[in-house]
Formats: sequence, structure tokens, C-alpha cells
Amino acid sequence: MKISIFGLGYVGCVSIGCLADLGHDVLGVDTNPAKVALINKGKPTIVEKSISELIRKGKKAGKISATVDYRKAVKKSDVSFLCVGTPNTDAGHLNMEYINNAAIQIAEGLKHKKSFHTVIIRSTVVPGTNRRLIGLIEEYSGRKGGKDFCVVSNPEFLREGNAVEDYFHPSLTVVASDSDIGIETARSIYEKIDAPFKVVDINIAEILKFVNNTFHALKITFANEIGNICKRLNIDSVELMDLFAMDNKLNTSKAYLRPGFAFGGSCLPKDLRALNTIAHDYYLQLPIINNIENSNILQKKLVYDMVTGLNKKRIGIIGLSFKEGTDDLRESPIIDVIERLMGKGYEIKVYDENVNLSAIIGANKSFIFSRLPHIKRLLTADVNEILKESDVIIVNARFPGVIGKLAKSNPRKHIIDLIHIDELRKHKNYQGISW
Ligand SMILES: NC(=O)c1ccc[n+]([C@@H]2O[C@H](COP(=O)([O-])OP(=O)(O)OC[C@H]3O[C@@H](n4cnc5c(N)ncnc54)[C@H](O)[C@@H]3O)[C@@H](O)[C@H]2O)c1
Repeated sequence: MKISIFGLGYVGCVSIGCLADLGHDVLGVDTNPAKVALINKGKPTIVEKSISELIRKGKKAGKISATVDYRKAVKKSDVSFLCVGTPNTDAGHLNMEYINNAAIQIAEGLKHKKSFHTVIIRSTVVPGTNRRLIGLIEEYSGRKGGKDFCVVSNPEFLREGNAVEDYFHPSLTVVASDSDIGIETARSIYEKIDAPFKVVDINIAEILKFVNNTFHALKITFANEIGNICKRLNIDSVELMDLFAMDNKLNTSKAYLRPGFAFGGSCLPKDLRALNTIAHDYYLQLPIINNIENSNILQKKLVYDMVTGLNKKRIGIIGLSFKEGTDDLRESPIIDVIERLMGKGYEIKVYDENVNLSAIIGANKSFIFSRLPHIKRLLTADVNEILKESDVIIVNARFPGVIGKLAKSNPRKHIIDLIHIDELRKHKNYQGISW
């Protein structure tokens, strides 16, 4: 395929070398003539493992060249990749100026071109950019999105220092577009890359890179804070974190990464508090770890606010324990929400088929009776009572016999889903906590 690459920085330079190696004819474009000259000499614009060799090889094979003439680049290619920079503005937003300028340049090139053109956004951009660029290109080219050109979002996941390896062996390739031609063009560009090819919603593709990088930043700061506390305790933090990463069932895995309700139970809140207290004893500030509990409190407040925002007084709760499949009520986050609602005079009914008050004992029993002394009055063994007598139903457990009934319940009832049950989403008055 004939490809033009707008922006010859880290992403653009790696793309040129790797796309040429995959067999494509690649034409780089940059506003900086020095970068264009380097590529035309068969040299990379960046320092990066294996890239010099790829650029030299591609140039020698006649597959790589570069120009400052963006109109020519559009005319001579079927696809343009946008790899221009998106630095922060002073306020912290992404500066979309370079993306906009490059899109306008592509639009100007399109004026002189008859065949269909695919624009692929490789830069990290704010959600909404794909659709906005369609409008911008239409405005400046007089061409029609979907008919004369299309825009595909295809976020880049490479790491500097390992960029070439990451380009050829990504964990996945993500593409999104409202044009099937655009998706199929991207599929054929990457056909030699052995990785899952995921076609997703455009907004998901656009926000994914922010989420990835924020998580990477979170991991680094978390490990640093753990290191800081371990140093005070004379514990080898590097050995510790190597061990930590060996648990790829619970620690380095998709476990605990689904948006939903607050955490609770007999372990997480207690041990988190204990670690925070050790840090406090050493006068250590650990902003990430210190604030985990605050974030959790806000998630409970979110549910309280969702309920109070509906202006209904009769509230049904499905699921009282801290997670499904257990009768452990200790620090169950829904209990905090119930307590607050009761304090404001809401009528509460609770259904949980795992919780049998006459069978619970020990710390579990003392916790629930200390927090909700009238729990016996709130609990019902008949879910139909909840369905009939509540205006708002909070779903905090997936009891198989109950979900079907909830899905078919009176459309005037409000459903607040804390655990993401697809079947309920068709209900007219459905709200998910974080979706
Ligand atoms: N660097 C990374 O590791 C990395 C990884 C993934 C994604 N990204 C994202 O990719 C994008 C590019 O990042 P980068 O590090 O390669 O940026 P960079 O600053 O190294 O390169 C951007 C290039 O774009 C050129 N440019 C600006 N306007 C232009 C225009 N109108 N036409 C042609 N060229 C133009 C600049 O001269 C510069 O050479 C950013 O959105 C970034 O967030 C970067």
C-alpha cells in the first residue's frame, strides 16, 4: 500500500521504518526540513534500537522517502497516518493545533485527488477528534466523509527504547471508524502483524491511550510508594515487587479491573488501613496509597447521590454482603449507603439469599448488628416484595432467579446497577454506576 506519514518524530519515524519493512511504500511528511532531509539520506530522526537499520534498508529498497510538500504526499498515497505531536496546553489539555493543521493540509491535498483516501489517527487525541476531523477535512477539501475519504482511529502503544519490537509485536491492534473501507484498509496494512485486531467504538479507541498511560503512571507511583515504605522497614522492595508480580492471578491480571461499586469485606479495607498507619508512624507521605480509601468513599457517595437524585423514598437492595457468593457482611460497602439513606428517612428493604441472620456468627454477626441494629426488619426472603414495594432497586448481586424478574419489572421502577448486568440494560429506567 502507498502510505504517507505526517510527523517524523518518534512515532512517525518508527512507523516509516516498520511499515516499509512490512512491504509498504512510505512517504514521510514533516514541517521541519531537517527531519525530511535525514529520512531522505536514509537516516532516522530519532535514537531508537534497530531503527537506523530499518530506515537504511527501506531507503535502499526505494520504499522510503520524505518531503515537506504535503499536497504531493496526499496525492501519491492512498492512506495518510497522522503522527504529529499533541503536547499539553498550559491548562493541561492536549494541544490539538498540530493535528488540526495536518488535517487541513490533508484536506488541501484531497482537493487535487480523485481517488478515495484513508486518514489514520495514530497520535494520542482527545475523544471526539475522529468525528471533528471528518468535519474539518470536509470543510477544507469540499469532499464528503465516507464517500471520498474516511478517518480511522488507531492508537499507538509503543514504548520509546523498545519501539520497533513493540511495533511488530503489539499486544493488540485497536482500530475504530464509521467507515468499513477504513477498517479494512487498516486490516490490510497490519495483516502481517500477529496480534488480535480489535475493531471498537471510536470513543473507546480515542480514550484508551490515556487510560493505558494513566495506569502505567499509577503502577510506577504505587511501586515507588511501596519502595519508600519498605526502605524505612528495611525490607528489600525490589525482591518484594518481583514476588508481587509473580501472582498473575490476582496482582498482574485483569482481576479487580472492572468498573463498579466500592470495595469492602474483611480484608481490603483493614489491610489498606494498616499499611497507611505504618506509613503514618514513619511520617511518610504516600499520596496514592493514602487516597485509595477516599476514592472508595466517593464511590459509595456516588450511589447515595444517584438514589437521592431520583426523589423516591422506597428503596430495594438486592445483595447485602460485600461480594457475590458469600454471606460476609463485614465492611460491605452497601451497608454504608443503607445507613446514610435510613438516616435521611428512606424506607429500605433488602434481599440477599446468602444471608441468613440466624446462621451468621462471630465478627460477621457483631458487625451487622452494630451497624444496622434493625437489619431483621429490613431483610425479606421474598424478592417479589422488593419488586412490588420499591421505587428504586439497587442491584448489588447477580442472583440467577432474580435478574430475569428485574429485567421484566415495571418500567416505572428505577434500577441502579452496581455490578454491570447486561440483561438489565434494556430496562427503561436503568442506570449503571459507572457506565
Ligand atoms: N513518543 C511515544 O512514545 C508515543 C507513543 C505512543 C503515542 N504517542 C503519541 O504520538 C504522537 C506523536 O508523538 P511523538 O513523540 O512522535 O511526537 P514528536 O514531537 O516527536 O513528533 C511530532 C512531529 O510532527 C511534526 N509536525 C508537526 N506538525 C506537522 C504537520 N502539520 N505536518 C507534518 N509534520 C508535522 C513535528 O515537526 C515533529 O517532527 C503524540 O500524540 C503522542 O502522544 C507517542
